[in-house]
Amino acid sequence: MCGIVGYIGGGGAKHIIIDGLKRLEYRGYDSAGIALAADGRLAVEKAVGRIANLEARLAEVSAEDSHAGIGHTRWATHGAPSRANAHPHTNADGTIAIVHNGIIENYAELKERLTAEHGVRFRSETDSEAVAHLIGLFYEGDLLAAVNRAARELRGTYSVCAMAAAEPDKIVAVRKDAPLIAGLGENCNFLASDIPALLKYARMIYLIENNETVLVTRNEISIFNEKMEKVKRDVFHVTWDADAAEKGGYDHFMRKEIFEQPAGVAETLNRGSDENGAIKLDGISLTKRDLEHIERVYIVACGTASHAGLVGKFAIERFARIPTEVDIASEFRYREPYINAKTLFICISQSGETLDTLAALREAKSRGARVLSVVNVVGSSVARESDDVFYTRAGPEIAVASTKAFTTQLVCMYLIALYMGRTLGTLPDAEYERVLLELGQLPDKLTLLLEDEPKIRDIAKRIYKNERIFFIGRGNDVSVALEGSLKLKEISYIHSFAIAAGELKHGTIALIEQGSLVIALASQDRLFEKMLSNIEEVKARGARVIGLAKAGNREIEKLADEVIYIPVCADEVTPIPAVVPLQLLAYHVAKLRGCDIDKPKNLAKAVTVE
Ligand code: G6P
Repeated sequence: MCGIVGYIGGGGAKHIIIDGLKRLEYRGYDSAGIALAADGRLAVEKAVGRIANLEARLAEVSAEDSHAGIGHTRWATHGAPSRANAHPHTNADGTIAIVHNGIIENYAELKERLTAEHGVRFRSETDSEAVAHLIGLFYEGDLLAAVNRAARELRGTYSVCAMAAAEPDKIVAVRKDAPLIAGLGENCNFLASDIPALLKYARMIYLIENNETVLVTRNEISIFNEKMEKVKRDVFHVTWDADAAEKGGYDHFMRKEIFEQPAGVAETLNRGSDENGAIKLDGISLTKRDLEHIERVYIVACGTASHAGLVGKFAIERFARIPTEVDIASEFRYREPYINAKTLFICISQSGETLDTLAALREAKSRGARVLSVVNVVGSSVARESDDVFYTRAGPEIAVASTKAFTTQLVCMYLIALYMGRTLGTLPDAEYERVLLELGQLPDKLTLLLEDEPKIRDIAKRIYKNERIFFIGRGNDVSVALEGSLKLKEISYIHSFAIAAGELKHGTIALIEQGSLVIALASQDRLFEKMLSNIEEVKARGARVIGLAKAGNREIEKLADEVIYIPVCADEVTPIPAVVPLQLLAYHVAKLRGCDIDKPKNLAKAVTVE
């Protein structure tokens, strides 16, 4: 989710690149850096935190009139946010500088080779630094050839911009599965990871495709395919305003983030498994002995993250057979929980800065628990204070209502539970393989599911005037009901209420009357018939029911007024696909009600107060 800007033209490179980086702020970042062509060398400057910190440092760099440069905002993936890990990275003698967006999957292998065979000394913990050394290794006075040669060695996702001190009039970029565009200016040209970076300067854009290399000079942008043949590309004229451009053409960040879920889930799954598909929890050092020692698990979180915790409880108890409790952080810290050195404390947080969650973590630690956290923001407080961290790979989440953080948290919880079950021997191999396979199929299924958006929008049109909506479900669907209800209330301000369907009869059913709207989640095959009975119960009292079930379970159509289908998948993993239509439903209802979707009233993205 990093941002890249490259500029080559007639002076003022420093200011233009900084301005471009600031316009990529919405992508989220924790550090920034710039490399400028200056007096036959590359001047590199970096800073942690705001871009203003970088600007302050740059005030002292004497490259005021530099005509070319590359800049980067970093969202940490490998290595915490620090100056050393910030981009640009350079080769040993500083004659090559690169910025990189994406993940180099074979970096450990490259690092080992560069170190052993070429005596390279790495100065950062990043995967990206390997790219700078690799290009340096292949450089013989032709940057284009060296970048092309280096790209052949890279596995993973990347857009890379490179400069060479000996060729200050060139920037070379290469792209695979990470965004990259080139912009045509007057007597100057640009590169960037996103259109908003360039809107002030260029509206004639070339969209660079996978495996293409671009050579940018002041007067020319040349695009080459994998065989290094020149490619002709039509210019794309941008007519959007800056606001629309930031959202990549989506109306709201929330909708953009909902649609980023297939990629986020795939990325999180990728980071949690090795080449053979076996689970490899990056950053987690729990051994069989450690796990055998654990008598109880506490999962503690707030808001959406706590709903991910509920699914985590189900998965850990089912796969690893360890008693697990889920607690809301604000309650946990004040109730003298039973914790000792045989407790595993799992803390889930998107931001890693939620005060209640952090306080609960400290409480658990002080009582001797081992702390494992599932966090999205690398280097955040929760991450820093935990014994083990397993990162969700959702990328920055901007909308207050959490969507892609939730589904990636679910992936992490499944992987942790499967890992525990397999290590402890409580989960038979065949079961482990089956669930892992099911998880692996989810990105494609989510993509398919998102194609149903028009249907969900139609349902939204029929229900958006309701002032009260009930969500019911059983088993794993209870957690999904809670999350669906939270999404709806937080952005549409409709009074929504979620309850386990079997619990309805103990009170809540008194509220059901003619025309009450009930969203009934029946995604679990195991509990499908039971759910049908619960739907009958509310129907008998006059409720209108929107059902949600797996494709093929058409029995539900006899009772529900309308049905949302999710792709067929194992009961264990349904929360991931089942929540997506509910996110879309909340989104479209809120939109029809004219609400401020990305910034709902009274709410904040990260709650750092008690
Ligand atoms: C806030 C956000 C929610 C989020 C919760 C926990 O209330 O609006 O979307 O679920 O905090 O945040 P965390 O960053 O700890 O996951």
